[in-house]
Amino acid sequence: MNMIVAVDENWAIGKGGEQLIYISADLKRFKALTMGHPLILGRKTLATFPGGKPLKGRRNLILSRNPDFAPEGAEVYRDMESLLADASEDAFVIGGAEVYRELLGRCDTVYVTKLHAAWPADCWFPNLDEDPAWIAEEEGEVLEEQGVEFHYVTYRKA
Ligand SMILES: NC(=O)c1ccc[n+]([C@@H]2O[C@H](COP(=O)([O-])OP(=O)(O)OC[C@H]3O[C@@H](n4cnc5c(N)ncnc54)[C@H](OP(=O)(O)O)[C@@H]3O)[C@@H](O)[C@H]2O)c1
Repeated sequence: MNMIVAVDENWAIGKGGEQLIYISADLKRFKALTMGHPLILGRKTLATFPGGKPLKGRRNLILSRNPDFAPEGAEVYRDMESLLADASEDAFVIGGAEVYRELLGRCDTVYVTKLHAAWPADCWFPNLDEDPAWIAEEEGEVLEEQGVEFHYVTYRKA
């Protein structure tokens, strides 16, 4: 299983239910990597998408304990076991913080966009550079958009 995430210098990923920043090159890469693959996400991350709607061209497997939550075009799972029974190995876990924490141990590849800046934040991704279970296998060149430098790193389970 795969994960994809954008982190700042402190491995922060969001604040007040929102992303820290939207980088269009990163959104394009997210689309290219995930298109055709099932997506796994939490109910709060779905709320950050335009109109709170699932992403097109991919199965959207949403976690929510709320029995009344039934967004159109998405498959809702009330617990992790039933979701995992339905999710194929080529799925991408796309957030947020709670779902990343729950599923990191089941993933073997994490696509990280490292933003070379820091923002006020209230949720974080585990620091993979401090975790011997993970190796930074591929590091891309430094890019820049909106005055923010960033680069892509692919981590694989050691
Ligand atoms: N930088 C990035 O790449 C990135 C990517 C994605 C998200 N984010 C950010 O992450 C933040 C959201 O993260 P979050 O941790 O607050 O929320 P989240 O992980 O998106 O969603 C949490 C919700 O998912 C449901 N859930 C989680 N585990 C479950 C389980 N085992 N069984 C059933 N339901 C489960 C619950 O929904 P109910 O409350 O409905 O029961 C829970 O409240 C936002 O700021 C967002 O912008 C950042």
